[in-house]
Amino acid sequence: MADFILQVNGNEKKVSVPAETPLLWVLRDTLELTGTKFGCGAGLCGCCTVHLDGSPVRSCSTPVSQASGKSITTIEGLGVNGLHALQQAWIAEEVPQCGYCQVGQIMTAAALLAKTPNPSDQQITEAMKGNLCRCGTYERIRKAIHRAAGAADGSGGAR
Ligand code: FES
Ligand code: FES
Repeated sequence: MADFILQVNGNEKKVSVPAETPLLWVLRDTLELTGTKFGCGAGLCGCCTVHLDGSPVRSCSTPVSQASGKSITTIEGLGVNGLHALQQAWIAEEVPQCGYCQVGQIMTAAALLAKTPNPSDQQITEAMKGNLCRCGTYERIRKAIHRAAGAADGSGGAR
């Protein structure tokens, strides 16, 4: 066991876990932030995506020791001041089907928009290609990202 101080959604959390514990299980089991989902457990599907210092990472494949000292954002911290523009767009475009992959999709999209506020289709494809959706909601995801980008730039996201 080792002690780690984690910055999670703007709050400092102290945890005592083995250093190799995946961040996913610290979030879900220790901190009870269950919004982040387990999919493949092998870094292949993107279900478990969170942000470390603003960049999307696979929390199933990131040891807690690597997250210590960095700013961690989960879906619970994305819309602390009301729903994030992406969450609003996801609702408007009725994106989810089974819903299981969607938290990871939104977290990856949020990291994209933070760096590229009005992404092209190609930039969306490139950023989102590691997030799999077995229900095939990819086109609705693309529309929702454009909608959220449009809401932020005032164009209304019309595409
Ligand atoms: S659960 Fe982490 S990438 Fe699939
Ligand atoms: S909505 Fe079912 S896996 Fe994506």
